[in-house]
Amino acid sequence: MLEKRISRKQFLKLGTATVAAGAFAPFSGFVDILEGAEKKVSPFRFVVVGDTHLYDIPNHRFDLTFKRAVEEIKKMKPKPDFVIFLGDLAQFGKKTELEKGYKFLKEMGIDYKIIPGEHDWYLDMGTTWKNMFGNPYWHFEHKGVHFIGMNSILVRDYWTARQMSPEERMNAIAELECHICGLWGVREEQLEWLKKEVKNLEPNTPIVLITHSPLWDYYPRWNFQTEDAPEIRKIMSKFEKVISIHGHVHQIVYNEFDNFVSLGNLATSWPWPYPPVKLPYPEIRMFRGDPGDKFDVVGYMNVNIDKSFLGELVGSKIKAVAKYSEWATFLPDKVKKGIEL
Ligand SMILES: [Fe+2]
Ligand SMILES: [Fe+2]
Repeated sequence: MLEKRISRKQFLKLGTATVAAGAFAPFSGFVDILEGAEKKVSPFRFVVVGDTHLYDIPNHRFDLTFKRAVEEIKKMKPKPDFVIFLGDLAQFGKKTELEKGYKFLKEMGIDYKIIPGEHDWYLDMGTTWKNMFGNPYWHFEHKGVHFIGMNSILVRDYWTARQMSPEERMNAIAELECHICGLWGVREEQLEWLKKEVKNLEPNTPIVLITHSPLWDYYPRWNFQTEDAPEIRKIMSKFEKVISIHGHVHQIVYNEFDNFVSLGNLATSWPWPYPPVKLPYPEIRMFRGDPGDKFDVVGYMNVNIDKSFLGELVGSKIKAVAKYSEWATFLPDKVKKGIEL
């Protein structure tokens, strides 16, 4: 149907032209459809946290930064409807580390949804994580927005032939550059699931897609990529707009491709350096941290969604909201105000 292919931007342009010409009638059909689509979303706020990298060491400094985030989120007004956790809860996938993270998440007193990162997974191939948190891929609907979470850190077997112990397997992939681990992906089972999951959704359904790694080739050498992202993007190409949110990069990074806008989140643990590649537009790097200050350049993301699915990045930072907000100020209005395509 032609009407459904007309984007909101086109609609606004056409709407103006129509008013000027004083001829509403030919466009009344799609006005109804678009207004209907907008009405589907009720405004709400959600928070995105990730890459806490908790160690099995009491009062480790990453406990303190995560704790600070939890306290801030608890006090937030308006209260977020829920929290999305982007993975790398633990540092070496140990039960004790994951249990520590579980307690922090519970302490927030807010519903949360979680996906795994590589640091949570490769000691026991996700067994403890799954016992604690359930299925690593999921979907849910909230106030008219469809959220999808996927496990993007699956690699081909690099350990059996090398006769590696579970600890060796974990330690290898815990490195930023693992030369034997190969590329990550969501793999066949999740691709099949995703196809079925979105089959009956209308193209104007607002989508937020959550993965640990970015769905574009940022810097594959550090697994700042997802090998089967092109397949994911193809499946998702039917939608008007997809907001993709990822962790793993421990830094603010923004990109646009196809019908996607992509947002990389801060960690609560430490910031990674920017890889030696040119960033996509906008070419913006966040301020580098003060190495003596454990609360600097770490943080989380705070997103307000309005009724037309134009998210607003409010910006949050554990030490002071100021710097993160400064970053938001640098971005073009369309990003700041919503990541509008
Ligand atoms: Fe991480
Ligand atoms: Fe990671």
